[in-house]
Amino acid sequence: MRPFIVANWKMHGLKADMNEVKAIDSAAAKFDHIDVGIGLPATLIHLAAQNAGHAQIGAQDCHQAQQGAHTGCLSAAMLSEAGASFSIVGHSERRADQAETSRLIAQKARSLQNASMGAILCIGEDLATRQSGTALDFVAGQLVESLALADDTSLSPERLTIAYEPIWAIGTGHVPELTDIAAMHSKLRSQLVSSFGPAGDAIRILYGGSVKASNAKDILALKNVNGALVGGASLKAESFVPIIAAA
Ligand code: PGA
Repeated sequence: MRPFIVANWKMHGLKADMNEVKAIDSAAAKFDHIDVGIGLPATLIHLAAQNAGHAQIGAQDCHQAQQGAHTGCLSAAMLSEAGASFSIVGHSERRADQAETSRLIAQKARSLQNASMGAILCIGEDLATRQSGTALDFVAGQLVESLALADDTSLSPERLTIAYEPIWAIGTGHVPELTDIAAMHSKLRSQLVSSFGPAGDAIRILYGGSVKASNAKDILALKNVNGALVGGASLKAESFVPIIAAA
């Protein structure tokens, strides 16, 4: 399986940061056995797509409807036309700040798939859930809910990527024990196979949460860790490219 290393720039980045995009793109050309994605603010997608030939340019959210009276929102077709080939959906910051539910996130992922775009669907437990010892079942349940569409159908396994991001590890410098990451990814793999059959084996499961050059190699070597979703360390090529190299 080709590793997928994805930058999540969150609400960072202006035109002046295009040199970082270009440097990341050069690394993507060099490491051509790895898929590299850059999840950008929507305002930078068009420009970045013009400047990148190897890295995939992506968004960080998308509305679930194709079009309509939704002030301030962007559809999958709009993001695709701007030059995005994927979008992150269901990041824990959106689940918290915008009260997004797993049901809504499934609809967003479906709208991306309908526009022939990739969806990186995020799941992960908070600290209290981790400490209570119920994280494996909680996150597997969140995955099932985030795959289910209202009409009792499910998302397609095509162009679907899962990102496991423990909320307590995001932006904190705290990373779970490697054995805990491996246990979670193994649980999620089993769940994907039980949801999709053999196609579930081909879905990439990324780890995210305080990934940096110093821990990337060990994390990416774990079974069923098929890439990384990187926030803080992805904003500068000098800290992100070593993570690509570690894969
Ligand atoms: P972080 O963020 O790498 O800064 O922890 C990861 C994410 O939120 O995707």
